[in-house]
Amino acid sequence: MEMSKRFYITTAIDYVNGQPHLGHAYEKVLADVIARSRRALGEEVFFLTGLDEHGQKVQQAAQAEGKDPQQYCDELAASWRAFATKLNLTNDDFVRTTEARHKTVVQALLSQLHAAGHFYKAAYTGFYSMKEETFLTEKDRLPDGTFDPSYGEVVELQEENWYFRLKDHRQWLIDYIEANPTFISPNYRRNEVLGFLKNNPLEDLCISRPLARLTWGIPLPFDPNFVTYVWFDALVNYVSIPESRGESATTWPADAHVIGKDILKFHAVYWPIMLKAAGLPLPKQLLVHGWWQKDGAKMSKSTGNVVDPVAVIEEWGVDAFRYYAVRELDIGPDGNWTAAGFQSRYSAELANGLGNLINRSLSMFKRYRNGIVPARHDDLAPDAAKAMRETVSNLREYELQGALQSIWSLVNRANQYVDQTAPFKLAKDPAQAGRLDEVLYNLAETSRVLAVLLLPFLPTTSAKIYAQLGLGSVPAHLDAATWGGLPTGHTIAGPEPLFPRKDPPAQ
Ligand code: ME8
Ligand code: MG
Repeated sequence: MEMSKRFYITTAIDYVNGQPHLGHAYEKVLADVIARSRRALGEEVFFLTGLDEHGQKVQQAAQAEGKDPQQYCDELAASWRAFATKLNLTNDDFVRTTEARHKTVVQALLSQLHAAGHFYKAAYTGFYSMKEETFLTEKDRLPDGTFDPSYGEVVELQEENWYFRLKDHRQWLIDYIEANPTFISPNYRRNEVLGFLKNNPLEDLCISRPLARLTWGIPLPFDPNFVTYVWFDALVNYVSIPESRGESATTWPADAHVIGKDILKFHAVYWPIMLKAAGLPLPKQLLVHGWWQKDGAKMSKSTGNVVDPVAVIEEWGVDAFRYYAVRELDIGPDGNWTAAGFQSRYSAELANGLGNLINRSLSMFKRYRNGIVPARHDDLAPDAAKAMRETVSNLREYELQGALQSIWSLVNRANQYVDQTAPFKLAKDPAQAGRLDEVLYNLAETSRVLAVLLLPFLPTTSAKIYAQLGLGSVPAHLDAATWGGLPTGHTIAGPEPLFPRKDPPAQ
């Protein structure tokens, strides 16, 4: 049997401690839109997300609650899974790094790299950030001699550990990134990695933590006094899950790892070196997104300056959340979430734009033609074809914001068409009955085309539009957006508001 490669997309796996926030939600929605769009383009897809459960932070958080770390993780994992459902994610699996299927692969990889001589044991004296679980050097000091507050408490440590020899990997990695300009996207993130690699020696990576300090990790298979450094463990999730499912051959390498800018070095430097040392192919692309702020300031629990995605979804609906997140912030730059910005897009683009178009089109269809579809007519066919073409090409390039802009150019064109053709006036003149048929066909068919194009982004809305058209479930393939799919003589079901208008908040 032929083994065809499927499209494989991943997200960062979130630290299980703490509650899901906007940054987590944004990244998962980006990956979901890409996964859904690849399915809609006819590809087989494997979409993986999940949780990073080992390490100091989790051990400490569990201790603080007087819980066994596994019990602590199990409880939180349930709420993270519920979060994925709330976001309407279509992930095909959900990894937890405490699962045996993952740990087995991590240990096998460690044994393989150890046997091949990639690791050595050495003593180290220096600074360590508990919060970031990372060793710091003199170079990490600020001009005033302190370490950045983001490192939290920094302690001086003296201990033995296992190290991964990275020095010899520097040149091939530079060559690889230079020869593969799309490996790291956007381009300014690629330049950042190249700058780092070219201007700094590549220090060996400490891949262990002594049991005396940390027990909550995967034991090193070749030295019982240590557990595995949490980042080495976590990165392996991208291969451990396909492998544990017996699906490596059809799945690896990943087509895209969707990650935030703060974890670029782990994915662009350590991960490729780990894979190369193991003789595995590298992922095709790192899609690096920026960070959200709220009202122009860093989101922080301690100051209460956060966006709670679940609260937004409960108030406005999951599609409104997905729409705003993807439409507002392109994959790359940092973004700023404001309630006013959200409400303005909700009102202008969802309620008055898309919602109003579908609602008035189907209302008139019901009222003037009893919902029965007349003969095909092609006034808007070129606009629909253009939107489809642009949406497909944007989706192929992971230009999600651009795809929404293409789709909304059709929404706006169709709303303008209603104003120009004034079907409510045509309806008053029996001599214009033929023209009214034509206009109504164009509006209903445009509604259908929009539902197909919107499926990767707004799956709930897309399904509602199809149901209102009396057409059953939305076709899985984007080809169905081709003009003329609405059959003559078919009876539509009728409109229901998609995005209820809300009163503006009290001033
Ligand atoms: O870093 N805006 O987990 P994490 C946008 N476990 N994205 C944000 C964000 C914000 N304000 N805050 C966080 C980890 N993120 C590791 C990953 S992968 C093998 C291991 C993003 O829970 C962040 O950039 O701290 C990252 O991609 C993801 O949320 C998980 O962050
Ligand atoms: Mg983080």
